Amino acid sequence: MSVEILQLCPLIPALEDSLNEQYKVHRWFEIEDREAFLNKRGDKLKAVVTGGHIGIPSELADRLSGLEIVAINGVGFDKVDLPKARQRGYRVTNTPDVLTTDVADTALGLIIAQARYLASADAHVREGKWPKAEIGLGTRVSGRRYGIFGLGRIGKAIAKRLEGFDGKVSYSGRKKQDVGYEYYPNVIELAKNCDVLVVAAAASAETRHAIDENVLKALGSDGVLINVARGALVDEVALVKALQSGALGGAGLDVFENEPNVPAELYDMPNVVLTPHIGSATHQTRKAMADLVLANLSAHFSGKQPITPVV
Ligand code: 8YV
Repeated sequence: MSVEILQLCPLIPALEDSLNEQYKVHRWFEIEDREAFLNKRGDKLKAVVTGGHIGIPSELADRLSGLEIVAINGVGFDKVDLPKARQRGYRVTNTPDVLTTDVADTALGLIIAQARYLASADAHVREGKWPKAEIGLGTRVSGRRYGIFGLGRIGKAIAKRLEGFDGKVSYSGRKKQDVGYEYYPNVIELAKNCDVLVVAAAASAETRHAIDENVLKALGSDGVLINVARGALVDEVALVKALQSGALGGAGLDVFENEPNVPAELYDMPNVVLTPHIGSATHQTRKAMADLVLANLSAHFSGKQPITPVV
């Protein structure tokens, strides 16, 4: 009998096909009467496959008494209750490394798009406005001071790309590292000493709203905030206020506190670039993530250690 798994969100077709070939898959997002489903199958489900942005709600995990593994199709595990997993003894796996390149590229894309108004410039041409008016001048990307909050795998990949733009890179994070970039022990000091603050840290209880009103003020009216990590790291209400008042110069955001909802106040701001959490969304990376999800599941169900365990 095939192992029963619960799929919490849509995945790329190749991954869905492989899961369907190897397991009996229940698609949570298509189940109408979830209560009846859980009563009937809750104790039979051995695995959950989910996205990093969704994780698994604690109340759902509580209903799956036979749960053995939560396989995240993503690097972030902030939406999975790890102490509960440890206590209950089920595994949690993620997909690190394979998405680093694309998330770092996305950060660079946002930095350039924000500084050079690429999104509004594109709209300017498409809307036939070019013959009638010019768009304003942007800001030079090369040689600026870039502060990276969270110098992990993704943060380092962003720093490396910024070096190619002659950027002056500094960072803050849990600890000083053996790297050639200036370290600031806290994010306020980092914000004071950079033009563009790039958020690349993992979301956790400690980093929630790390980018608050004071950090945004320290970044200043010419400063820019870029976020490719998690919306929860930024106090979004404070961010909207800082942009509205001009206390902050601009932002490039791929992630939001309450996805897929984005504060509507941001829609009309030409100094803000918005993308719908596309950091890892390339064919190449999503395929590599899919392979890792499948490899983690199959290692677990053949009695081996998963390739990329979190717990
Ligand atoms: C994806 C992510 O949005 O890796 C993460 O933590 O947030 C992203 O890569 C998501 O997990 C895709 O399912």
